[in-house]
Amino acid sequence: MSGLFITIEGPDGAGKSSVVKRLVKAIQEATTKPLIVTREPGGSEIAERIRDILLDPIHTVMDDRTEALLLAAGRRQHVVEKINPALERGDIVLCDRFVDSSIAYQGQARGIGIEEVKAINEFAIEGLRPDLTIYLDVDAQVGLNRIKDKSSNRTQDRLELEEVAFHEEVRRGYLALIKAEPSRFVTVDASQSEEKVFNEVWEIVKEKL
Ligand code: TYD
Repeated sequence: MSGLFITIEGPDGAGKSSVVKRLVKAIQEATTKPLIVTREPGGSEIAERIRDILLDPIHTVMDDRTEALLLAAGRRQHVVEKINPALERGDIVLCDRFVDSSIAYQGQARGIGIEEVKAINEFAIEGLRPDLTIYLDVDAQVGLNRIKDKSSNRTQDRLELEEVAFHEEVRRGYLALIKAEPSRFVTVDASQSEEKVFNEVWEIVKEKL
C-alpha cells in the first residue's frame, strides 16, 4: 500500500475534533494528494449504523464484549470499504480514532483484557497499521470537564457518561500502548491551548507528507 495512514487518539475531551478540523485544512494547503477524512466508530454507512447502537445512552444493558465486537465489526466494514481502497490508491487517510481506542476503552477500561481485544481486532483489520498515531494526552478529569462544558448544547454519549475512574483507565491503556510501540506514536500535551496543540501536531504531520 502506498498511501499514508494517520490516526488521532486520546481520551474524551482531549480536543481531537478541533485538531482534525485544522489538520484537514493544513494538509489540503500543503499537498495536492487526495485526503480522506474519516472516523470511528463509524466511517461507512454500515459502521455509522453500528455507531448509533454503540453510543445510544438508552442501551444500558450492553455487555462489554458485545460492545467490543460491535466496534470491531464496524471497523472491519470501514477498513474494507473505505480505508484500504484509499491507501491502495495512494491517498492520505486521516482517521479520528482506530484500534488503539478499542484497546484503551474496551481492553483496559472495560477490563476485557488488552490481548483479547487485540485478537478480535486483528481478525477485523488483518494486519493494517497506522503509519503515524498522534496521541492527544489529557488528564481524565480535565477531559471530562471540557465535555461537560460542551454538552450544554448536546447530550453526552453512552461512553462519555462513564465515571472519571473509567476515563483514568482509558488513559492508562493508551500510555501502556505507547510504551509497547513507541515508534508509531507521537504524544502531544493536549492541556495546552488549541493553537499550541495544533502547531505541535502540524510539525509532526508535515514531516510525514
Ligand atoms: P468519538 O467519536 O471520539 O466521540 P465524540 O465524537 O463524541 O467526540 O468517540 C465516541 C466514543 O466511543 C468515545 O467515548 C470513545 C468510544 N470508543 C470506544 O470505546 N472504542 C473504540 O474502539 C472507539 C473507536 C471509540
